[in-house]
Amino acid sequence: MKAGPIGIFDSGVGGLTILKEIKQTLPEYDYIYLGDNARAPYGTRSFETVYEYTLEAVKKLFSLDCPLIIIACNTASSKALRSIQQKDLPQIAQEKRVLGVIRPTTEDIGRYTQTKHVGILATPGTVKSDSYRIEIEKFFPDVMVHQEACPMWVPLIENNEHNTPGGEYFIKKNLNRLLQKDHRIDTIILGCTHYPLLMPQLKKRVPPYIRIISQGPVVAEKLKTYLSRHTEIASLCTTGGTVKYLTTESPIAFEEKASLFLVESIKAEHTEL
Ligand code: DGL
Repeated sequence: MKAGPIGIFDSGVGGLTILKEIKQTLPEYDYIYLGDNARAPYGTRSFETVYEYTLEAVKKLFSLDCPLIIIACNTASSKALRSIQQKDLPQIAQEKRVLGVIRPTTEDIGRYTQTKHVGILATPGTVKSDSYRIEIEKFFPDVMVHQEACPMWVPLIENNEHNTPGGEYFIKKNLNRLLQKDHRIDTIILGCTHYPLLMPQLKKRVPPYIRIISQGPVVAEKLKTYLSRHTEIASLCTTGGTVKYLTTESPIAFEEKASLFLVESIKAEHTEL
């Protein structure tokens, strides 16, 4: 099989928070980032649609020789990953791998929480799928999970309105709703790749004993471990430290939005799925 870059897929620009951490932890590899910006957000779309779109993106990245794809989107991980891994992969690319972001974020949660009461902030799609509760229950049946869907947060971030009084209103509203569900929550998972941009605002609004977990560093560490354990996959990932950015929208629109997430300026290319 041909070697190639590691593929990172997101509905839009949110996955850049994951890519940034992966690049820092594993700078030696080549990456292709694919954002389906033309059809984002996925968070409010049906299971069937998210699955169909995600499968198209996976096929695209396979056609670009990616031996390994990280679905850096919670909505796509919760609604499409399992079907792709179990149903599609054996047919389209048996020797390739597709991983998500929910499993790595949940498998250590029992180490972070003392009270065993955990809160999840995510898109309506991710909350509706119940994926976080299901995954956490597998590893830690004694952990109580509360979820809050934040439908406004992604549009606020994408429009750079999260630091305005209007943005603050929605951030406070959803965060308070989560905290009111259970006063014993001591750990909050940001279950959407956009939300790390809200970290300063969220930290300001929670008591100091509440830990807020951002997925990027966790996913990056887990990927490092995965590659060291699966040398047959690692040996198919090319090294050169390059990153190529593809978007289904206009590259200029992508570059503008990406500047909210990354410190360096980047060049993107348009692609069709
Ligand atoms: N990146 C997606 C996630 O992590 C949120 C954006 C969207 O709704 O498309 O869930």
